[in-house]
Amino acid sequence: MRTHYCGQVNEEQLGQEVELSGWVLRRRDHGGVIFFDLRDREGLVQVVFDPDTVEAFALAEKVRNEYVLNIKGKVRARPEGTVNPNMATGKIEVLGKQLVILNASETPPFQLEDDNVSEEHRLRYRYIDLRREEMLKRIRFRSEVTRVLREYLDNNGFLDIETPMLTRATPEGARDYLVPSRTHEDSFFALPQSPQLFKQLLMVSGLDRYYQIVRCFRDEDLRADRQPEFTQLDIETSFLNEDQIIAMMEGMMVELFSKTMSVELPKSFPRMSYAEAMSRFGSDKPDMSVPLELVDVGDLMEGVEFKVFSGPASDPKGRVAALRLPKGGELTRKEIDDYTKFVGIYGAKGLAYIKVNEIAKGREGLQSPILKFLPDAAVDGILSRTGAQDGDLIFFGADKAKIVNEALGALRVKLGHDLNIRKEGWHFLWVVDFPMFEWDEREKRWVSLHHPFTSPAEADLDKLESDPGNCNSRAYDLVLNGTEIGGGSMRIYRPQVQEKVFRALGISDEEAKDKFGFLLDALKFGCPPHGGLAFGLDRLLMLMTGANSIRDVMAFPKTQSASCLLTGAPSHVSLQQLKEVGIRLAQKPKLGS
Ligand code: AMO
Ligand code: AMP
Repeated sequence: MRTHYCGQVNEEQLGQEVELSGWVLRRRDHGGVIFFDLRDREGLVQVVFDPDTVEAFALAEKVRNEYVLNIKGKVRARPEGTVNPNMATGKIEVLGKQLVILNASETPPFQLEDDNVSEEHRLRYRYIDLRREEMLKRIRFRSEVTRVLREYLDNNGFLDIETPMLTRATPEGARDYLVPSRTHEDSFFALPQSPQLFKQLLMVSGLDRYYQIVRCFRDEDLRADRQPEFTQLDIETSFLNEDQIIAMMEGMMVELFSKTMSVELPKSFPRMSYAEAMSRFGSDKPDMSVPLELVDVGDLMEGVEFKVFSGPASDPKGRVAALRLPKGGELTRKEIDDYTKFVGIYGAKGLAYIKVNEIAKGREGLQSPILKFLPDAAVDGILSRTGAQDGDLIFFGADKAKIVNEALGALRVKLGHDLNIRKEGWHFLWVVDFPMFEWDEREKRWVSLHHPFTSPAEADLDKLESDPGNCNSRAYDLVLNGTEIGGGSMRIYRPQVQEKVFRALGISDEEAKDKFGFLLDALKFGCPPHGGLAFGLDRLLMLMTGANSIRDVMAFPKTQSASCLLTGAPSHVSLQQLKEVGIRLAQKPKLGS
């Protein structure tokens, strides 16, 4: 029903007959002439009907916004003075000869050109929202991105292999979405949090290089960069070490950014150990676009009178850190109070600071509520260690290291945004040398920082059970401008090591056999050394398109409370359906039909 897409009609067709099909974005009546902006996937074109084409004109008078039309007409140059340089098709228009109304439309729930529509409304009528140019662009871009990624992986010998959606729970750390089994009483499938174990099994099978663009499901608290179902670019390889995997992934990012955005990234990205990232940035996903750093000052505070500092300074789990903000002296009292409230979200009990007015004047040149508690040596140490200059502000955090890191780490990024001091560009960073385990206070046991199939560093193999807190793993995360866009590791491929790690995690041999017996068995049948990673495709797209939320790069996302406003999912189901899967509700059911 078309010779061209609306957005592709241009001067090359001047004088030619064209046939177009699309939606009416706007309709204008101008002194007996009717104009439409006709829209399709590729863009807009102006169509004109004048009263000489009697039949078509009569129909055109009935047309309203979002009607679906088929038109035939002739391309002509726009009259002098009506050329629109902001429109790709702004030099031409189509003089309509025939018009067919393919379908009418009720008045849409919101105007496509209105930028102030609530997200709730947009999600409820997502099919209309996706007609908006901004959304259309993002969804098309997504398709281009997956095409380039597939191309790269295909060219590097990867096979695209599907893995089950109905499977067993695997421990990625989030809650599972469960699916009751009708044929097996009292039994449930879990939707995969990732295809982790299956991709490892594919390596045991000798498939060598696997990838999949795959949906993953995690029932966790949602944020702007988290959805209950999201998409991973999931990758696994055999016989490559971490340096080789990292290099291959850098090549993929370079090609992706070059082909889809004409951005030329460096051939390799910087790497930083987890310990350094935590110490300098208070985060395992530091935003390298923000030029601010944390500095340890605990050793200067050990004996000081100020208990808020001396306590954490002498606590092995404590940390006292300073964060220098160049020119921060300009902040008002109210702004400092607001930042104090902000760090409170992360559990910080306060936000001490020193205003550096004039260093040459010594103490006199400084302004701070805590100055009186600090001896000269501590003050001098702070100034020299932070590299303070006149006009700066130095913030302090003192508490358990976890709280200080989270609070000052987040403050650092917030200051970067608020004060507009972020460096432009794409700041990629590999974070490496992660600890193997972290202590879970609630469960009172060690848990994996990544997942339990992550290989420990070779040097730490012997202390897995005796000193789990000091073992590193062979994991790596890729961070882009402060967002973790991917993560992976070299895997355990020897059954004895896997058993040791399960024991270090407090998983009994019996439990391990019950839950992961199939993996332990597989490792015994010729498992090659292997490793891989997974990228959060939605997060990557969010950053590439500059969207505020991953919802804006997904065609049909869920809300913050994990529901779909468009279809009304999740919904109640009939008693019959529940009965078939052997489920009785604890509360009196509000049943669906
Ligand atoms: P991980 O759990 O780190 O690793 O997930 C990989 C990447 O997926 C993205 N991601 C999410 N994106 C949107 N919404 C979510 N709820 C969400 N959760 C995670 C992140 C993250 O970096 N099996 C391992 C990978 C491996 O070891 O190969 C895994 O799933 O960008
Ligand atoms: P206070 O003695 O509680 O009045 O605190 C003096 C200053 O130290 C105030 O500026 C507080 O914001 C700050 N402060 C209090 N507790 C902490 C903490 N744990 N870390 C950093 N600063 C703190």
